[in-house]
Amino acid sequence: MGVIFSGIQPSGVITLGNYLGALKQFVELQDEHKCYFCIVNQHAITVPQDPKALRENTRKLAALYLAVGLDPKKITLFIQSEVPAHAQLGWIMQCIVHIGELERMTQYKDKSNNQKEGVSGGLLTYPALMAADILLYSTDFVPVGEDQKQHLEITRDIAQRFNYRYGEIFKIPEIKIPKLGARVMSLQDPTKKMSKSDENENAFISMLDEPKVIEKKIKRAQTDSEASVHYDKENKPGISNLMSIYSACSGKSLEELEELYKGKGYGEFKKDLAQVVIQTLQPIQERYKSLINSTELDDILNEGAKKANQVANQMMARVEEAMGLSR
Ligand code: AQP
Repeated sequence: MGVIFSGIQPSGVITLGNYLGALKQFVELQDEHKCYFCIVNQHAITVPQDPKALRENTRKLAALYLAVGLDPKKITLFIQSEVPAHAQLGWIMQCIVHIGELERMTQYKDKSNNQKEGVSGGLLTYPALMAADILLYSTDFVPVGEDQKQHLEITRDIAQRFNYRYGEIFKIPEIKIPKLGARVMSLQDPTKKMSKSDENENAFISMLDEPKVIEKKIKRAQTDSEASVHYDKENKPGISNLMSIYSACSGKSLEELEELYKGKGYGEFKKDLAQVVIQTLQPIQERYKSLINSTELDDILNEGAKKANQVANQMMARVEEAMGLSR
């Protein structure tokens, strides 16, 4: 039974991109792996967050993790800031990683461009904390979307450097990218990935969007003037992105979709896609509603933090011993 670790930031309400790229595959993995799923609120504060919104989004994310079908009896679900070993090991990882490596990260370059009030140190050192998250649990596989590939590679480099210096403490994790939905793009600019913190709400579908809103956003999604439902990521990124979403939600292949919509315009395709997305999200939203205000949710998070703390503290003790930080 391999160990899985994955985290999602409560930096907004998660999107269909987060679901198709990450959460959906978590559900498939829970039966055969020991799974740690983390709400990485300390990663979210690398850019300014409104405290009230952060608290609410953290709870919403916890409820959504369960609403998509994760079973708290099988997995460990917890909040990063409730397991102090993450920040402790994060500091140590900062002392192992090199600044040049951090500066090469695409996410750092993208996100630092948008910071009006200055770029936080945390935005640069984010991958060190992410490495700590993963390495604390002797993780075998990290199921993430394609955008996180670079961060996973740096995690492996840091772990190998640490092991070389201090002995074989960390397991070197492998990345696990889904075949479908690995990179869902913005509905407004299909050259950019769909992000929950996008300023333009029409660019993403939130997991909690009402059917009417989903219909409107898909109707407004950017396509091209050719009006032919044909997959060509390079020249037709808009419709290709919508086809990928359709395919990931319905299980129909891209070829099947091309065949189905031969000679039909984008209007009909978009109308059907909206229904497919609504049907995908509806059962999740129903379960979400029954969880969000329940004490059951708090019990699950308390239990998750307890279990995660036990494992993480054991690893911290080994790391400190190896480095000469313990007496
Ligand atoms: N567009 C996407 N397509 C497929 N997978 C995606 N993921 C994120 N966006 C897409 C996957 O979702 C998981 C959680 O990501 P995260 O919230 O920790 O950070 P992120 O990748 O920075 O996600 P966002 O939505 O873009 O957040 P913000 O807007 O705050 O930066 C990861 O597994 C990621 O691969």
